[in-house]
Amino acid sequence: MRQDPLSYLGDELNALKQQNLYRHLRVLDDEQKARTSFDHRSVVNLSSNNYLGLTTHPRLRQKALEAVEKFGVGTGSVRTIAGTMAMHMELERKLAEFKNVEAVVVFQSGFTANAGTVSAILTKDDVVISDELNHASIIDGCRLSRATIKVFPHKDVDAARRILAGLPAGQRKLLITDGVFSMDGDLGPLPALCELAEETGCIMMVDDAHASGVFGKNGRGTIDHFGMHGRVDIQVGTLSKAIGALGGYVAGTNALIEFLHHRARPFLFSTSHPPAVAAACIAAIDVLLEEPEIIDRLWENTRFFKSGLERLGFDTGLSESPITPVIAGDSARAMKLSDRLFEEGVFAQGIVFPTVAKDKARVRTIVTSTHTREDLQFALDAFGKVGKELGLV
Ligand SMILES: Cc1ncc(COP(=O)(O)O)c(C=O)c1O
Repeated sequence: MRQDPLSYLGDELNALKQQNLYRHLRVLDDEQKARTSFDHRSVVNLSSNNYLGLTTHPRLRQKALEAVEKFGVGTGSVRTIAGTMAMHMELERKLAEFKNVEAVVVFQSGFTANAGTVSAILTKDDVVISDELNHASIIDGCRLSRATIKVFPHKDVDAARRILAGLPAGQRKLLITDGVFSMDGDLGPLPALCELAEETGCIMMVDDAHASGVFGKNGRGTIDHFGMHGRVDIQVGTLSKAIGALGGYVAGTNALIEFLHHRARPFLFSTSHPPAVAAACIAAIDVLLEEPEIIDRLWENTRFFKSGLERLGFDTGLSESPITPVIAGDSARAMKLSDRLFEEGVFAQGIVFPTVAKDKARVRTIVTSTHTREDLQFALDAFGKVGKELGLV
């Protein structure tokens, strides 16, 4: 009998289990909302990126249904052949206006927006200067570009400056940061990085996946929050988190966007968004513009929950956003914290190495505008109980 050539994968999985790094997928039995059911258990959900509750917003639902009725369920082609519909163009026009830039191109995900853009605009002769905690999609884009990758310690602008000082004049270089770091919830130092990019002639790029719909006026992101309009050459946003549907986009100049139409491989070689997704995203921008009170509610809930965790005595790191980590130490402790919280009716996913450092394993919490005070107090009570049990507070 043929020996299974993939048998080594089983060994790798066993090793993960021994190190408490193995994760099983929790299954959502209901809608993605603040109180819902995973694995047949009713829980307060602190694990989604559905910051504004738009996954189930009636206006998005309605527009998606109408799009299915009118245009069917798929586009049947990549954008560059037969898969561009008027609604894709409308979404991009709306996003460009929203972000105050010349043009936008939408990708199938935030991941492909980052990876597709970085790999398209750089070659092996170029250099990327990248924060050590930048998202995996940026790292993959850098690798695919074959450019030289120089990593600076988290948010250390002086270290980035020293790297840049060592590069030859005339070198093409990309300075890149997350707007909001997804595992710690802190903000990239945009003003200082933009200044550095201007001093040294770098292309400046910001991945605003977790800032879209959350920071800035009507959720325009960290560029708006810090008043950096016109100083960031490439902005990436996602439509998968606060926007509630699926996708990513790149915002910048007409030349950048036209270039990506011709060279970004996910745009060229992967099918475009189904009509329902494009229609829901268009409706989401209208909601951001017309119902900004949902963003205010998100921040009220964020302040309530963060201060509650701090009062209980948890280590919540340096978060400045609705993402609040609760740092537990090693992976076994973080997984235990997550599992016990789940038994108590709170879903906060454990995050372990290699996503975060080995001694900084955590559960990551994200509140949404749709959590009620009762939901959040319930979660705080559970954190207090389990935190004492595990000696974390
Ligand atoms: C910082 C950051 N950038 C990009 C992405 C990718 O976004 P998407 O889920 O739309 O692919 C994520 C999502 O995990 C993220 O956290």
